[in-house]
Amino acid sequence: MPVSDNQLVEMFEHVLTLSKVKPSESVAILKSHYSNPRIVQAAFNAAQRLGASVYGVELPALNPPKAMGNDMTAYCGDTPLTGNKAAQTALEAADLIVDTMMLLHSPEQEQILKTGTRILLAVEPPEVLARMLPNLEDKERVMTAEKVLKNAKVMRVTSEAGSDLTMALGQYPTVTEYGFADEPGRWDHWPSGFLFSWPNETTANGTLVIDKGDILLPFKIYCREAINLTIKDGFITDIEGGFEAEYLREYMAYFNDPEVYGISHVGWGLQPRAQWTAMGLHDKNDGMCMDARAFDGNFLFSTGPNTEVGGTRKTPCHMDIPLRNCTVEVDGQVVVNKGEVVS
Ligand SMILES: [Fe+2]
Repeated sequence: MPVSDNQLVEMFEHVLTLSKVKPSESVAILKSHYSNPRIVQAAFNAAQRLGASVYGVELPALNPPKAMGNDMTAYCGDTPLTGNKAAQTALEAADLIVDTMMLLHSPEQEQILKTGTRILLAVEPPEVLARMLPNLEDKERVMTAEKVLKNAKVMRVTSEAGSDLTMALGQYPTVTEYGFADEPGRWDHWPSGFLFSWPNETTANGTLVIDKGDILLPFKIYCREAINLTIKDGFITDIEGGFEAEYLREYMAYFNDPEVYGISHVGWGLQPRAQWTAMGLHDKNDGMCMDARAFDGNFLFSTGPNTEVGGTRKTPCHMDIPLRNCTVEVDGQVVVNKGEVVS
């Protein structure tokens, strides 16, 4: 249901306080023409109420020729910040950036984070921000899971639908998202609540069955029929099933790039206020559907690039695929049992 402007400002005050914004700090609000003006204004107002020095940075939109649709998670590559040194310098000067336009991970953004600047992404609709307003328990839940994933050597995912996928871990870092940016150089996303890493190169092997009801992002559809993915040495080699399998095959083939079939981040959802059902109540352009990525006990599988953590796979096509009812084992320890988080 609609959220008032007053409530939106209060929520931003809460999240910026969790993000440790102090009166001595500078807060930059990053926006473009397609940013939600209510979110931009609420971020401004909240930062001011906390006594911070606040300023805006507006960047032009960027439409890569091969991108389809409006979902910013669908296409990885250059961002409006690429090559824009002056804007980068203006953003590096901030202690915290509220990103209302969604800069996907880029070398420029990584450079900003390296200076100690924190970044908080906030692009979902206000009612989604309200339902998943972060708190300290969200952080504790995710950081407890991080202790398990951080030093893990192997992840295995099984399901009654027929999944049995194994991958080695350790080559790439573990990333946590809990909804606020409270450490120097931290990037986070409100709303969120999950963690992930990337399989070691060439080690993911097995079968992943995307079952009826599982979600394909950025298509924002619930599968009506199972899709069988065969995965060999880190790449999807076969996509079989009904209509959704055919759609996925066609979409990935459109990029004409063998690297789209690589396995990207893998992890599990830990946000009890995120709902598997929420996507059905929203239009596709409402947001990026963090409910699907974060709902408690999902296995979040993805395809495509791994350059954001120093890998070499640079491909524009990125699919996030949250699955239900999976069992996720990390070094033999069950962390999700048939879609239920093991505390
Ligand atoms: Fe992703």
